[in-house]
Amino acid sequence: MTSDSLTLREPDDWHVHLRDDDMLAFAADYTARQFARAIVMPNLVPPVTTAAAADAYRTRILSALPEGRRFTPLMTAYLTDEIDPAEIATGFQDGVFTACKLYPAGATTNSAAGVTNVRKIWPVLERMQAIGMPLLVHGEVVAADIDIFDREAVFLETVLTPLLADFPSLKVVLEHITTEDSVRFVEAAGANLAATITAHHLRIDRNAMFQGGIRPHAYCLPVAKRRRHKEALRKAATSGQPRFFLGTDSAPHQKHDKESACGCAGIFSAPMALESYAQTFEEEGALERLEAFASEFGPRFYGLPLNEGSVTLRREAQDLPELMGDGNVSVVPFHAGETLAWRFTGRSSQAKASPGSA
Ligand code: DOR
Ligand code: ZN
Repeated sequence: MTSDSLTLREPDDWHVHLRDDDMLAFAADYTARQFARAIVMPNLVPPVTTAAAADAYRTRILSALPEGRRFTPLMTAYLTDEIDPAEIATGFQDGVFTACKLYPAGATTNSAAGVTNVRKIWPVLERMQAIGMPLLVHGEVVAADIDIFDREAVFLETVLTPLLADFPSLKVVLEHITTEDSVRFVEAAGANLAATITAHHLRIDRNAMFQGGIRPHAYCLPVAKRRRHKEALRKAATSGQPRFFLGTDSAPHQKHDKESACGCAGIFSAPMALESYAQTFEEEGALERLEAFASEFGPRFYGLPLNEGSVTLRREAQDLPELMGDGNVSVVPFHAGETLAWRFTGRSSQAKASPGSA
């Protein structure tokens, strides 16, 4: 690594929304060009609840990519109250599913079919624990009397604590954490609990949604919290602790669906994900820890091999557009109209040169 160029082992995105149809056609390659693998969220309409549906979705994802792109979508199952443990276990054992996703019903985009009471999925969690299948959690309660800024912290106490107590060897990933409470919770937990951290929660706090007016493109779920929470996330991500790793939660929505009286939650960060993380890590004086966060801790937690190839970023000012699209979709990306210090320049199937090699 020189100060003007950054070469990392090929990273993975451990949480992304690739969507379907026109949005998939537009968005998928932004993830596939930067990341070798990605955990693909199942909150389609209808949700991905069977191995057959996941397999068909994987085929659609691969068909949306340019010829020759090396990218492995890791598929997830959407848990419902009625989910069949046998379907989940068979899908995992056949290599179709990598993990299951728990959406509390009503917590976020396309979560209406999610779980109404986690006790209802105890049998499937038992099965997952027995076969070593990870559970990925959208960690927010949905009760109307709980303030939206408290929903993650309350989830830790009322849902996650009893779940971990009942399933001590289930692997759990608390997705897209947004609070200092979650950082401390993960730090204090055993080796089976990890967390992903998005690029945007490292950069925005809740004021971003209200800067000079209502800013729908800064709205995502879990919603960004106070500045002190963002600071705790920045410390955790750059700390070198292996149970915090990269998951963008890149979640594209059409511009008109976000700029609406009831705008959708989600931030589209796939086009500049690595550059955004690199900027944060550099600001924190921790650029040398980016590789472990992006490329090592995730696969180690999931029990998957590390990627062999490399990616390179160059120090070069990069202006992000106000709007992206392809004629079928229009999306306002994260960092729209801003300038980032790094630019992704490509991926190679070659391993990066080890220090001291010619
Ligand atoms: O902001 C979000 N967008 N959070 C989620 O949990 C879902 C996602 C989406 O699918 O749009
Ligand atoms: Zn998500």
